[in-house]
Order: sequence, then C-alpha cells, then structure tokens
Amino acid sequence: MSMDNAFIATTFDWDHRTPTAWQLFMNKAFRKLRLPMRLTPAPSDMANVEARMNLFHLLEQVIAYKVPGDVVDLGCNAGDSTIVMQKVVSTLSPERQVHAYDSFEGLPELTGTDVADGVYGKGYMAAPLDLFKRKFDALGLRHPHIHKGWFQDTVPQGLPERIAFALIDGDLYESTKHVLPHVYARMAPGAIGMIAVYYDEKVLSRRGLSGGYRSPGVKRACDEFFADKPEKVHVLYANEYSNGYFRKQ
Ligand SMILES: C[S@@+](CC[C@H](N)C(=O)[O-])C[C@H]1O[C@@H](n2cnc3c(N)ncnc32)[C@H](O)[C@@H]1O
Repeated sequence: MSMDNAFIATTFDWDHRTPTAWQLFMNKAFRKLRLPMRLTPAPSDMANVEARMNLFHLLEQVIAYKVPGDVVDLGCNAGDSTIVMQKVVSTLSPERQVHAYDSFEGLPELTGTDVADGVYGKGYMAAPLDLFKRKFDALGLRHPHIHKGWFQDTVPQGLPERIAFALIDGDLYESTKHVLPHVYARMAPGAIGMIAVYYDEKVLSRRGLSGGYRSPGVKRACDEFFADKPEKVHVLYANEYSNGYFRKQ
C-alpha cells in the first residue's frame, strides 16, 4: 500500500511558498534602492509544509515496517497535524486508532523554567474543540479519539497500550517532560517519536528566529529524558521550524 502526499499542500493552502509576483516586484525595487530587505510569503501558524512532510514520511515509515500500535498526537491544537496523521492511517492502516490530546484551552499555567524562558503564557494557542471537529467533518475524515484536558490528567490514563507513532508538540518543558516517559514506555521497538519545535543550535543555527520557533523547554526536556537512554533525538530540517525524532530500540 502507498499513497500521494499532495493533500498536505492542498488541504492547508501551503502550495505557494515562493514569492508572489508583487513580492518579486517589491524585492527588485528594494535591491535597486539598496535596501537590505526582502518580502516572502507569510509563514503559517502551527507548523509549515516541511514539518508536515516530516510527519508524513515518519508515520508512513512505521506503517510500512508494520510497527505495532496506535498513533498519538500530543498537543493537537486545531487538528492540522492530526488531519495528516488520520489521513495517512485511514488510507494505509485503517485498523489503527489515532488519538488526539489537547486542553483545547491553550497552554497551561506556566511554572519553573517555562516562566524563566519567557516565550509563552497561559492560554497561548487556544483552539476550541469545536473547530477541531469541524475541520474533520469538512474533509469527510474519520474523527480520532479525542482526549480533552491537561496532559497531567489525560496521560498516561488515556494513552493506548501500544504506540507505533507519537507526535509530541506541547511547546513547554513541563508538558514535554510529563508525556515523554509514558509515551516511551508504550512504544514498540521501531516505533517513532516525532518532537515538534525541537531546535538544536549545534546542528542548525538560525539567527533571528523568535522564541516560539525555538521553544527552548522542548529540547531541555528531551535532553534530560534521553541522557540515560540508548536512543538519540535527531534533527529534521523544517525551515523556520525544526523537528526532532527518535526511533525506539
Ligand atoms: C503548537 S500547538 C500544537 C500544534 C499542532 N500539533 C499542529 O501541528 O498543528 C501546542 C498545543 O499543545 C497544547 N498543550 C501544551 N501543553 C499542554 C498540556 N499540559 N495539556 C494540554 N494541552 C497542552 C496547547 O493547548 C496547544 O494547542
């Protein structure tokens, strides 16, 4: 079984990343005026097309290798990442269940080092559950199993017994730290954990990026967790975003 992934561009209107005609015109004018600036298409909110391609290929890989288990999206927000996951699962491995977790009220009250990072605040990125459901309905996609609540209340209780693929996208140190050990414990050998906004300055340094793209707490939580594990988190290029992933041994 195999499938196209053009839906990533068409579903999310990400098909056009090169400058449009008027942006090219303005860029030419800037060059003539020797102004050090350039217009580019606006980046999307929660991720970009590169991050979705990483998601597609990693998930497709565990299915192709027949890694046993369900698929979980921890920090699903309005559902765009879950849509990619559900679409792949429905097409290639419909016997698997997709699980989506979020407060649907945005980020929790920040504590400790998340406060010190100074990047996020309580309620950031709130997306209502109703919006999530409407997106699935509009696409005619099967709804995943939705776990509404704080990770601290839904994980591990609401996790499936076996996990073949996990997207961990909680942005905060505390959120990432809480879910990682529970997800890891349920991953079958060969299962993949993808970490959104995993930014490693040593592997790929991007000057001028704002804090949200770097989400420093995410790497900190991963570094701590994997310090005594055989797996390593690798960086996957995702333009202004950055992704990480590990494969369970
Ligand atoms: C960057 S968004 C996820 C984006 C989504 N995965 C996508 O790619 O479209 C992060 C989400 O994590 C959720 N989140 C973070 N920490 C949480 C926690 N402790 N409990 C519940 N939800 C949490 C937020 O509500 C937010 O919707």
